[in-house]
Amino acid sequence: MTKVVISGTGLFKPSQTITNAELVESFNAYVELQNAKFADQIAAGEREPLAPSSVEFIERASGIKQRYVMDKSGVLDPHRMFPRLAPRADDELSLMAEIAVHASRQAMEQAGKQGKDIDGVICAASNMQRGYPAMAVEIQQALGAGGYGFDMNVACSSATFGIEQAVNAIRAGTARCVLVINPEITSGHQEWRDRDCHFIFGDACTAVIVERADTATSNDQWEVLGTKLATQFSNAIRNNFGYMNRCEDTDPNARDKTFRQEGRKVFKEVVPMAAAHIEAHLKDLSLQPVDVRRFWLHQANLSMNQLVIKKLVGGEVTPDIAPLILDEFANTSSAGSVIAFHVHHGDLNRGALGVICSFGAGYSIGSVVVRKL
Ligand code: COA
Repeated sequence: MTKVVISGTGLFKPSQTITNAELVESFNAYVELQNAKFADQIAAGEREPLAPSSVEFIERASGIKQRYVMDKSGVLDPHRMFPRLAPRADDELSLMAEIAVHASRQAMEQAGKQGKDIDGVICAASNMQRGYPAMAVEIQQALGAGGYGFDMNVACSSATFGIEQAVNAIRAGTARCVLVINPEITSGHQEWRDRDCHFIFGDACTAVIVERADTATSNDQWEVLGTKLATQFSNAIRNNFGYMNRCEDTDPNARDKTFRQEGRKVFKEVVPMAAAHIEAHLKDLSLQPVDVRRFWLHQANLSMNQLVIKKLVGGEVTPDIAPLILDEFANTSSAGSVIAFHVHHGDLNRGALGVICSFGAGYSIGSVVVRKL
């Protein structure tokens, strides 16, 4: 079988951050405005008042301390509560493609690749900026890449699912070098007005170069030993935004047209699924969880990741075994596990075994087992 490696990764992080204190201050200002607006209905018992958020709750329940966003002013404006992004003309590079190009150039530089060396571009993310043409084709052109480009969406698992498509294309001989990019402008579909989830997401973009080992020149190569994907339908994380909304005569700003979840349910159901998935994948490769030097897990919740690792290897869960980037980035959907890998793999020695694993809406779980060459 063709030996395939990850030979470069890249990360774009927006220049603006929102701390929990800033987020809670604006959310609570929004709550006061809403409660004042509906004061009569609330007094008549016809409507529940909105409850305030708190920094303590956010940090205790999730481990998140701040997030990067493309536009802070719109999100923090209590009269708006979502980003303010300037529209671009058709002949300008779109915003999603722009951040993808930033992350991709970094990954290409690390892997020692130029546009002409890439013959497949996969844009794998939770949301695409438009219906068509595919974002990947625009990114392909901006990078001067050859071959083909296509978009795919498996929500938070988009990156690992994209990596498997890249590995399979290389093994099948239809591509030699594939760029997998995860531009996640989550602030666009986040519900900043909902106390249960207003703190969850942040924006970022990651890029990964996957190529044949015999073409790789990078001094930082990770052999892909295997990939494993699984899905099981669930409504616990859902967003009904879509191109049929107009035909259904539904309100495009209704609550169900942005991110919503049953957080507790997700937590309870996904932890055992993720642990069992990783264990089964390692077993397929005649490996065991204790053989793994580092797990780069999906970044949605600190305790969730600790529980997954405890189930797998027991003992104390240290950042050395399962590094956390969630405190700085919040949940960046599919980019999260790749950010963890990008930031926290440089200290590992030749032969080290690692698992990149994402989990999220679908439900979907994807794992990539790698070994440092
Ligand atoms: N500030 C203060 N209190 C809040 C709050 C906020 N922003 N949001 C909720 N609360 C309150 C709730 O009203 C509830 O109060 P009650 O006990 O009086 O009813 C209490 O805090 C607990 O709420 P709950 O939603 O059960 O919290 P939780 O401990 O489950 O944490 C999440 C919430 C979302 C952080 C957590 O469930 C989670 O991360 N789940 C996994 C999500 C996931 O992986 N999603 C994938 C997305 S891609």
